Amino acid sequence: MNKVRDKWNRIYSKNRLPGLPAAVLTDNDNILPTKGIALDLACGLGTNSLFLATRGLEVHAWDISKVAVNDLAGQAGSLGLNIQTRVVNITAAVLPAESYDLVLTSHYLDRSLPPAILDATRPGGLICYQTFTAEKQINKGPSNPEFLLQPNELQSFVPDCEILAFKDESHNVNRDDPLAGRAFIIARKPIG
Ligand SMILES: C[S@@+](CC[C@H](N)C(=O)[O-])C[C@H]1O[C@@H](n2cnc3c(N)ncnc32)[C@H](O)[C@@H]1O
Repeated sequence: MNKVRDKWNRIYSKNRLPGLPAAVLTDNDNILPTKGIALDLACGLGTNSLFLATRGLEVHAWDISKVAVNDLAGQAGSLGLNIQTRVVNITAAVLPAESYDLVLTSHYLDRSLPPAILDATRPGGLICYQTFTAEKQINKGPSNPEFLLQPNELQSFVPDCEILAFKDESHNVNRDDPLAGRAFIIARKPIG
């Protein structure tokens, strides 16, 4: 895991330009909560955390890269946003049960996580995923199939949940489209 950490620290040391917030958030702004606690897993430089915190959520932002997390903590501090950062290897972390109103995983795929994410979400809370698909037609994102979504795999991450939004843009080849080659889902955990 040190290799992964070092790789991402190197990447963020060279490039600290945050991208745009993920389309799973910006396209579905109208159904996202404006209060409560959000968990941004593998937050990177935290564009999504900043988006959610600006909407009024307290955000817990976790990533293995100290460089990225320190950068985000600095930004949150200077903007006066409520973002609690944590440098952590998510694969080995314990997610607290029923603690979050929204859990976001954007451009990070660890297939051991979905049950823990479901458990960490409060009843009625939202689970948001977005990442690249195995069927993508653009030369962007990972090439290792381990990190690419299979068709309809996102639905399997949120069993028994209500699907509020789903989009699969695997065949979109517009490099300027932030969703090209990716899929997203937003699901609501059942109450009771
Ligand atoms: C492609 S970036 C995505 C960043 C952000 N979520 C986004 O959508 O812009 C992947 C992130 O996963 C983080 N990461 C990779 N393996 C991790 C692990 N085991 N635990 C925590 N973070 C990890 C990296 O440091 C990196 O910030």
